[in-house]
Amino acid sequence: MILDGKTVSAKIIEELKEELSHRAKKPYLAVILIGDDAASRVYVRNKKKKAEYIGIKAEVIEYPSNIEEEIVLNKIDELNNSPEVTAILVQMPLPEHISKEKIICRISPQKDVDCFTPENTGRLSIGIKPYFYPATPQGILMLLDAYNIPVEGKHAVVIGRSNIVGKPMAQMLLQRNATVTICHSKTKDLDKIIKTADIVVSAVGKKIVRCKMVNKKSVIIDVGIYRDSNGNLTGDVDFKEVEPLAEYITPVPGGVGPMTIASLMYNVVKS
Ligand code: GUN
Repeated sequence: MILDGKTVSAKIIEELKEELSHRAKKPYLAVILIGDDAASRVYVRNKKKKAEYIGIKAEVIEYPSNIEEEIVLNKIDELNNSPEVTAILVQMPLPEHISKEKIICRISPQKDVDCFTPENTGRLSIGIKPYFYPATPQGILMLLDAYNIPVEGKHAVVIGRSNIVGKPMAQMLLQRNATVTICHSKTKDLDKIIKTADIVVSAVGKKIVRCKMVNKKSVIIDVGIYRDSNGNLTGDVDFKEVEPLAEYITPVPGGVGPMTIASLMYNVVKS
């Protein structure tokens, strides 16, 4: 069965819009976009459009790729201190001369809708509620919940150990009482491990999950999204092969991607 992120996310977006229509004070999302990375521009444009559709005030602050780090840090201070701004997002990746660590550490945890700051990621890992959960893992759990797919007691295999998806996904699955295995590029016998999984979350960015690896009744979540040699959008999972076998599977596009945006918007409304 296909986990239809497009439909589930559209419902969440409508609920958020409805909720905001009753609120006098609207949330205010400030997005910092540095340089001219094409993918980042598309992501930011989509976030702004979706935010405005819901009734969120959204401002994009753009800087050229050679901007001084200090100017960005000062802008973050200004946004942190602004009573109007409720949510801050610095679009990644950053140009090399700007320290990602310094930027992330500067954002107020109370406005950190990405869950990037040490305070929020630290809270997540020791089981204290962060101010916000990270968008992609939270969106994946929202999708599982929408289909009443249980997590407790299941063996969840997370492929990828990024700060943005793999690590927080593992933490959140653990919080839900899954038994979690984290795999990465140096993992031996990846196929044997995947074979024992009830839930697979793949966040790698290349074709890695094939049908001979997955077991029947498993839930396959594909976070990867990139263009193949023919220019088509594709994910980490060989969808055509795996779909007939798996109990549930997310398509690419139309699975995790729209859930990530809906989940981010949920955070901004909460802010
Ligand atoms: N770059 C790619 N994904 C993300 C994201 O979720 N948040 C931010 N800030 N930058 C990104």
